[in-house]
Parts: sequence; C-alpha cells; structure tokens
Amino acid sequence: MHKQAPIGVFDSGLGGISVLHEIRHLLPNESLVYVADSAHVPYGEQTPEFIVQRSLAISTFLLEQSVKAIVVACNTATAAAVMELRLRWPQLLIVGMEPAVKPAVQASRSGTIGVLATTGTLRSARFAALLERFASDVQVVTQPCPGLVELIEAGQLDSPATRALLTSYVEPLLQAGCDTLILGCTHYPLVKPLLRSLVPAQVQLIDTGEAVARRLHSELATRGLLADAQHPRDYFYSSGDLHKTEQTLAALWSAPQPVIALGF
Ligand code: DGL
Repeated sequence: MHKQAPIGVFDSGLGGISVLHEIRHLLPNESLVYVADSAHVPYGEQTPEFIVQRSLAISTFLLEQSVKAIVVACNTATAAAVMELRLRWPQLLIVGMEPAVKPAVQASRSGTIGVLATTGTLRSARFAALLERFASDVQVVTQPCPGLVELIEAGQLDSPATRALLTSYVEPLLQAGCDTLILGCTHYPLVKPLLRSLVPAQVQLIDTGEAVARRLHSELATRGLLADAQHPRDYFYSSGDLHKTEQTLAALWSAPQPVIALGF
C-alpha cells in the first residue's frame, strides 16, 4: 500500500460530494477517486441486498484504481453494506458514516431531536442499534424524505419544488419540538442554506461529513498512509448520465470536472 495512492469515495449519487469537501479541506494533499452510482440513485428506496451488491462492485472497481482506503460517503450504503465490505476486505481501511445521533443528543436542550434520512437508513437494524445506544433518554422523531435526493441530483438546490418538499418534511419535526435536526443523508448538507432558511435560528443542524474526514485523517496517520502530493488529482466516475452528472457536479465542486463512465 503506497501513501500517495488515492482515496476512494462513493455514494448513490452526488451526495457524497458534501463529504468530499470535508476530506479535501482536511487532507489537501490526497488524490481522490469519487464514484457516483447515479444509474441507481436513490439507494434509499432500494433493497439492502441490491445495495450490498452495488457496494461490493464499486469497491472492487475502486481497488482496481489502487485506492488505499474507501469512504462510504452514504448513510444508506453504510447501513446496508459496510459489514459485508469489511468482511470481504478485512485489511482495508473502510470508513462508513451514520446519522450523528450522539452529537445531536449532546447538543439538544429540549430533549427532542429530529432525524432526516432515507427510508432505507431509518428502517435499518444499524440505525435502531444507534438509537438504542445513544438516544434512550431523548425523544427521537424520524422523517424519511422521499423525492429530495432526486431534486438534489437534478441540481435543484434552491428551487420552489425543493423548498416545498423540504418544508413539508421539516414542519412536523419543528411542531414536535425538535431543537436539533440531524442531516442523516449526505445529500442533505448540499441544501443546508435552504434548510437553514426554513427553520428558526436556534435550531441546530448537525451532519457527519467533518467527523468522517477527521476519522479518515487519523486512521491514515496511524497507518503511515498520509500523502504529501503537491498536485493531488481528483477523478470522478458515474454509472449514470455523464452530462447530467457533470452539470450538477459543476454546481457542487470548486471547478468543472470531467466525469468518466463507470461502465457497470
Ligand atoms: N446520500 C445517501 C445517504 O447518505 C443516499 C441517498 C439515496 O440515494 O437515497 O443516505
């Protein structure tokens, strides 16, 4: 394993770009290979078996690109597949992510927290275990958000349709007295400015991207695998429509990037 090898990052689509920003910020000398499984977005409505199959195929592809670590930049894929990935590649550094329940419980004053996430994440055994472990003393209101990921994938980060849908998901959480909202899907931080405008200023919005980047940094450091490249490269792959992915990516990443066909 070479320290200058790239880090592989994947998501159902472009939601993981919210995590990629944090990684780029904390690890400026790393080369990154990002895979958007855009042909199969949203994962939130897929079966766990299907997500396991896609996660294994994408991780195999990333290893063929010689990555030194894999970040599952997707709460839904982590819930469904991270165990299988770790079983398949026990020596590999695999960083997953889950809704930030513990920090939200610590931050809440009202004792009522809201979780915005995909249907798949909220239905998973992993999420149930997370609540049991960290949220037994608070009230947790969960809110699946069907349709939101599709709008974000289409680049509608502040359209009337996105605003209306997001409002309909956030209102019940505010009415239930939530003072802390967990963005439990990596797509949602991409509409954080819109979400911020829909909730009172004292409501805290918490996501996991930065914690994931910190964990990745410390694990790479422990293994002596931090890169020191002066000119790291970013590569973007998609299983879906390349033009559409490029268009939305251009609004999310620092500079326009070519997107390469994944081919499976
Ligand atoms: N961005 C993903 C997550 O963090 C998946 C969204 C989806 O494809 O449904 O859960």
